[in-house]
Amino acid sequence: MEKRNLGNSNLKVSSIGLGCMGMSYGYGPASDKKEMISLIHEAIDRGITFFDTAEVYGPYINEELVGEALAPFKREVAIATKFGIQIQNGKQVLESKPERIRQSVEGSLKRLQVETIDLYYQHRVDPSVPIEEVAGVIQDLIKEGKIKHWGLSEAGVETIRRAHSVQPLTAIQSEYSMMWRSPEKELLPTLEELGIGFVPFSPLGKGFLTGTIKKDTTFGGSDFRRVVPRFKPENIEANQVLVDLVKEMAIEKDATPAQIALAWVLAQKPWIVPIPGTRKLNRLEENLGATDIVLRPEELNNLNDALSKIEISGDRYPAEYANRVNK
Ligand SMILES: NC(=O)c1ccc[n+]([C@@H]2O[C@H](COP(=O)([O-])OP(=O)(O)OC[C@H]3O[C@@H](n4cnc5c(N)ncnc54)[C@H](OP(=O)(O)O)[C@@H]3O)[C@@H](O)[C@H]2O)c1
Repeated sequence: MEKRNLGNSNLKVSSIGLGCMGMSYGYGPASDKKEMISLIHEAIDRGITFFDTAEVYGPYINEELVGEALAPFKREVAIATKFGIQIQNGKQVLESKPERIRQSVEGSLKRLQVETIDLYYQHRVDPSVPIEEVAGVIQDLIKEGKIKHWGLSEAGVETIRRAHSVQPLTAIQSEYSMMWRSPEKELLPTLEELGIGFVPFSPLGKGFLTGTIKKDTTFGGSDFRRVVPRFKPENIEANQVLVDLVKEMAIEKDATPAQIALAWVLAQKPWIVPIPGTRKLNRLEENLGATDIVLRPEELNNLNDALSKIEISGDRYPAEYANRVNK
């Protein structure tokens, strides 16, 4: 599989990574661990070298799963994990105080069974801790050899500049897809200017862009989409116009909608590495097929023209999470 550098860094990974969150968290009950370990091994067999997890996924069981699965392949792959969200009384709380980051890194190293973390992201900006202080702790952790690269998730461009001036960032991880193009306004130009890589999460629109979600689709209690406004039946229905557009292009390119959604992300910049998530081998293989699809400039322009005319219905986060992004 093609490899890509994340920005100006020397972190080179497969052009598509694997988002592992859904194997344990966010999309219903945790899947069978043995099955997920063999899925991760299949991903390695097919050339994936970039795996995404976080301390809060589970919490902890997703990092444990990824650590166990990747233990025999440590030297061949890059593992990205995240700190800065804790669960307190069943609620997510932002926590990036220096002593907390130090505790988190020790826990992640242990669960991931590694001596150094390839890419360590702050999961969300903590408004109570200046980003310069966070960057300083990270700098120390890099000197101590506990992490190699760092990044931020869903941070605003001013925070990115401030963080980068203390300790250069390797990647930003934020939502980006044909369904959520907001990063094109300020984020992507800033990353290009600073030479920082971009790792889009939810590149399949949390499954929506694959065309498999209909207005009568139901989401179980532990499926995050149950509380996401965009996945309310009326919004799913209103947004089908987007799926229709993706399907049209899929027919033209003899591809599937998921492949078009990922090929579109890949075509934006050579320093972008999406991390679609799946628990199924056939979907993993389908998603990797996106690397064979070339969208010509005029096809991309036509798609973008059509996309800009579609207004997406429903927010991407419920109110309690919405004010934690772009900070
Ligand atoms: N930094 C952050 O705050 C943040 C937030 C969210 C996610 N992430 C990371 O980004 C990764 C990916 O994001 P995501 O999982 O939210 O969204 P996504 O990759 O856009 O979509 C995942 C969903 O699509 C389904 N799917 C995958 N491939 C498919 C295919 N070919 N056909 C039909 N359905 C398909 C999956 O179901 P199955 O599993 O059943 O296949 C799952 O429900 C996560 O795993 C996580 O590591 C980070």
